[in-house]
Amino acid sequence: MFCVSVPASTSNLGCGFDTFGLALKLHNDFFVERWKSFSVQIEGEGDHLPKDENNLFIRAYVNACRFFGSYPEPIRVVQKNHVPTARGLGSSATAIIGGVTAYEVLFGRKISHEDKLKIALSLEPHPDNLTPALVGGFVISLWDGERIIYTKIDFPDDIKVVVAVPEFELSTREARKVIKREVSLSDAVNNIQRASLMVAGLCKGRYDLLREAVKDRLHQPYRASLIPGFYHIIERAYENGALAVFLSGAGPSIASFSVNNFDAVGKAMVEAFKEEGVKAMYLVLDVDKEGTKIHESSYP
Ligand code: HSE
Repeated sequence: MFCVSVPASTSNLGCGFDTFGLALKLHNDFFVERWKSFSVQIEGEGDHLPKDENNLFIRAYVNACRFFGSYPEPIRVVQKNHVPTARGLGSSATAIIGGVTAYEVLFGRKISHEDKLKIALSLEPHPDNLTPALVGGFVISLWDGERIIYTKIDFPDDIKVVVAVPEFELSTREARKVIKREVSLSDAVNNIQRASLMVAGLCKGRYDLLREAVKDRLHQPYRASLIPGFYHIIERAYENGALAVFLSGAGPSIASFSVNNFDAVGKAMVEAFKEEGVKAMYLVLDVDKEGTKIHESSYP
């Protein structure tokens, strides 16, 4: 038996819709071995997820087998999940990257990151959570339907990500339906300018640029209607010292970059959710710079 440990991620980071992703030190651990039939056991978050062959980890493993022309030998997986599901923290990406990586281990085959991501993208067609889940750190990715291109930039050690996680789930599919399919030139320019500012701000340690850099016009204005108190929650985080505040992935979690006052920022966001009648919790997370890890394990 072995364990594949895959980090959560926050994506978009305001202006980098479908492009920016950041791996976080919060993991789902998948314990895997060959078995007589497919078997899934889930502990922790997401115990309502499918436990048959519709399970995302199993589907990703089977897709990897098909991609390489291998017979999908049945496996047993025990998922110890710490990443809340359908909250914009890349829980699906952990299962997909985990399943593809399990193939690599079980069949003793070294697979390039590009091939792993291509298989993964057949299940989730945006690379912004998948890539950081695999390689860790802050990643800029693009997928044109054929090629995956990505690059990792150094992320400052002193920035932590404070995430307010509401109790309700929001599927990425639903959260994409509310976005406009066509955008104005001024909105496109807004995001090009600010996405560039985000990368420069992080690379140069210019934290003063980050608050402007997260001002998105492509998805957050539309998704705000799905998150009670969205702008008020953001304002409360800034009042308590956050550097930059944005919707985490497709939501409904709201994430902030902070270098201090972590608990004050988290508590303020949770309190603001509560004022809207929404129960929430907060997490203070470091960035995971390493990505997916495999280790031998006798558990469980
Ligand atoms: N970028 C996606 C979205 C989320 O905002 O819909 C995860 O891939």
